[in-house]
Amino acid sequence: MGRARWYITTPIYYPSDNLHIGHAYTTVAADAFARYHRLRGEAVWFVTGTDEHGQKIARQAAQRGQTPAAMVEEIVAGIRSLWATLGISYDDFIRTTEPRHARVVQAVFQRLMDQGDIYRGEYEGWYCVPDETFWPESKLVEGRCPDCGRPVERVREDSYFLRLSRYADRLLAYYAEHPDFVQPASRLHEMESFVRAGLEDLSVSRKGLSWGIPVPGDPEHTIYVWFDALLNYLTAAGYLADEERLAATWPPDVQLVGKEIVRFHAVIWPIILMALDLPLPKRVFGHGWLLLGDTKMSKSRGNVVDPVELVRKYGLDPVRYYLLREVPFGADGSYTEEALVLRTNVDLANDLGNLLHRTVAMIGRFNGGLVPPYRPGVEAPSLRQACAEAVREVEAAMEQLEVSRAMIAIGQLVRAANKYIEERQPWNLYREPQDRELLDDVLYNLAETLRILSVLLTPFLVETPERIRRQLGIREPVRHWEETAWGRTLAGTPVEPGPPLFPRREWNPEPEPAPTTPVEPAEPAAPPRISIQDFSRIDLRVGRVEAAEVVPGADRLLKLRIDLGGEVRTVVSGIRSHYGPDDLVGRHVVVVANLEPARIRGIVSEGMILAASDDGRLTLVGPWDAIPPGARVR
Ligand code: MSP
Repeated sequence: MGRARWYITTPIYYPSDNLHIGHAYTTVAADAFARYHRLRGEAVWFVTGTDEHGQKIARQAAQRGQTPAAMVEEIVAGIRSLWATLGISYDDFIRTTEPRHARVVQAVFQRLMDQGDIYRGEYEGWYCVPDETFWPESKLVEGRCPDCGRPVERVREDSYFLRLSRYADRLLAYYAEHPDFVQPASRLHEMESFVRAGLEDLSVSRKGLSWGIPVPGDPEHTIYVWFDALLNYLTAAGYLADEERLAATWPPDVQLVGKEIVRFHAVIWPIILMALDLPLPKRVFGHGWLLLGDTKMSKSRGNVVDPVELVRKYGLDPVRYYLLREVPFGADGSYTEEALVLRTNVDLANDLGNLLHRTVAMIGRFNGGLVPPYRPGVEAPSLRQACAEAVREVEAAMEQLEVSRAMIAIGQLVRAANKYIEERQPWNLYREPQDRELLDDVLYNLAETLRILSVLLTPFLVETPERIRRQLGIREPVRHWEETAWGRTLAGTPVEPGPPLFPRREWNPEPEPAPTTPVEPAEPAAPPRISIQDFSRIDLRVGRVEAAEVVPGADRLLKLRIDLGGEVRTVVSGIRSHYGPDDLVGRHVVVVANLEPARIRGIVSEGMILAASDDGRLTLVGPWDAIPPGARVR
């Protein structure tokens, strides 16, 4: 070994539920960078995985009536299959429950204790379980988690602390000397102010939480899930297991993370590495969020889109293309299915698909199906220049981790080639015998541009490059980025007309779903018998109505805010003819908590409340005695 490896990581995902396209977004982008560097002939080490310990996972498992181990097994299998569906070319999949990782975590914890970087004390403050984050009282916003706005829990327990304070100055100096360490630059500035405001030592253990890695020598304490999770990047590089592999791999070249977890990767993570005397990652890149409407897509908000479903409906490459192209990498952007269809139809079916179709058809009609010879100098080199520019632009964009910019450059080349056809009008050249050489040249230029496009697209799309090449009569797969150089298409190659690259998609927005609580108290026929397992798939919870308001323009609907214990949900309900907003606030209701969210009058309704109805009468159903919101109904 010994050969340096280009090391890229994604965050490791919580296997508390199936992943959605927000997670796919990070992973597909990382995959594109990994494929790009591989194509350039570098040895790449691309790591993703799962963050399996902690209170969030333990609670989720309890709610599902499973052990944490059984739950993560099931969900991790789903995640692996999702990555296979999306063509993710990772080299290592790390799970924090693996023995190779527990060894590293305990050894690091021990070393930091021995050095005095970790000490024992008592933690008193607040904890946000969904974010797995400690918060001092002073940081809470209206008593809630300042990051996600969800309720926090009071914690007072013996705890081990990591001495962040000891490293604050070194960290600030590091930021100043390495302005590329955290990107985009705005995120580095945020981190600087955060550190300047003062770093409190960080609690790095939890007491009485068995789902985690025990503190060495003190098994009542479990190592804090973020301390455990961050070290995955070291484990996957061979730390404490394979010196040679580590030397070739460390430090990471790029660590992609969502913007809300930049803080962990730009403050806690480098401090752990400083304490271990290890070089810091070269770049931590904080990308933006995929939003649905104007809120972050997330399972706990119930507004998620399933990537498997999208791939089934639209195909793999359109979904990858959309994720990589649509939103400037780094910024937030809204997901809409309409935009996905539009991208597929315009960029892929129209622009790219037509370019291939027309080129292959013209070579068929005007040159007997064989790529004509190229005679430099006959034709102005405009397309050749456009290719060279696109290659340079993609290289620069990928170097700066601007994957969407790379896609834009490729799109421009496609459009330039289509324009070239319009300008040269090969069908007219064909009619004039004296234009024969020019025609050959035009056709060659088009075939060659498509060949170069097949190379340019290789890091991003999985199936399309080969499909383009097959029609161009090229048998070999793309092997190296150097094949973007002009002039490799061989004269005399027989083209092979094939089906359209991308079928055009219809865009039929689905009709607005009916309100989730019965508007008309219809009398259903008795449903068939179900098993207790069937019944247990319905997550019924007690909820407390926090707020209620009329939905403008919809005289049967109320918009409710319902506290479910850990979170507050929006539910739109068709009960206005029976209840006014004031009747409801403070009342306890029963909520179907795992119902697919539905958009009603533009509002995402994240559940349904239960009501009994008979002959035009309707009454809400609730608990008989006081019980806290979130209690399970079964
Ligand atoms: N387990 C921690 C990370 C530990 S890394 C040492 C975690 N997991 S997560 O599953 O909640 O999120 C993983 C990544 O998915 C984060 O980078 C997060 O930003 C990203 N995304 C989750 N929802 C997203 C969107 N809606 N849009 C874009 N990225 C999103 O945090």
